[in-house]
Amino acid sequence: MCILKTERLELFPWEATEEMAIALYEYARNKEVGPAAGWEPHETPRHSFEIIRDLFIPQGDLAIRFSATGEIIGSIGLMPDKRREDVKSRELGYSLARHMWGKGIMTEAARALINYGFSELKLDVIAIAIHPENERSLSVARKCGFTREGLLRKGCIGYTGDIRDLVIGSITREEWKEKY
Ligand SMILES: CC(C)(COP(=O)(O)OP(=O)(O)OC[C@H]1O[C@@H](n2cnc3c(N)ncnc32)[C@H](O)[C@@H]1OP(=O)(O)O)[C@@H](O)C(=O)NCCC(=O)NCCS
Repeated sequence: MCILKTERLELFPWEATEEMAIALYEYARNKEVGPAAGWEPHETPRHSFEIIRDLFIPQGDLAIRFSATGEIIGSIGLMPDKRREDVKSRELGYSLARHMWGKGIMTEAARALINYGFSELKLDVIAIAIHPENERSLSVARKCGFTREGLLRKGCIGYTGDIRDLVIGSITREEWKEKY
């Protein structure tokens, strides 16, 4: 079931199947992908299966399919926003297969999901948290209309146990109405 369609992409819910686990593993094993977002490269298709079952599905994350080839090339989702209480807020997260970087794909997917978050989920704000050295993701956030709130120093613990800073950004419902 495709829930969002853009010019080049289809976004649809992850399912705990072997086929989807292999598709995730194919890009999530790349050492450039996960660590930029703070997670460990996947070691086996079983690892990918467990991530789909225990994380992606409970969070309602969506797989990204490249319509022209049918290939699953990434994941995107609106996760619970741990930094805001009693506000209709979610935190945007995403990752993309290495060979698809630099073509505007994630900006296209994120803009569609942001529209969905404000128009269908009636959110008041969408947040984003990015490691300061992740220039590509900072660019995606800028192109999607996020405002930089500041640097959360020692904001999270990486998978290797290192404590890392996070740039926090957000887009409010009012800004979405103006910019989209
Ligand atoms: C972050 C990520 C999703 C970006 O996806 P993408 O489809 O390549 O993004 P876009 O093509 O829409 O935009 C990428 C931007 O990075 C810029 N960019 C490209 N190469 C770059 C480089 N070497 N250094 C800095 N910026 C670069 C591009 O110019 C573009 O910005 P611009 O359009 O303003 O010029 C992808 O790189 C990824 O999956 N990274 C690993 C996981 C991750 O970091 N997730 C986000 C966690 S917050």
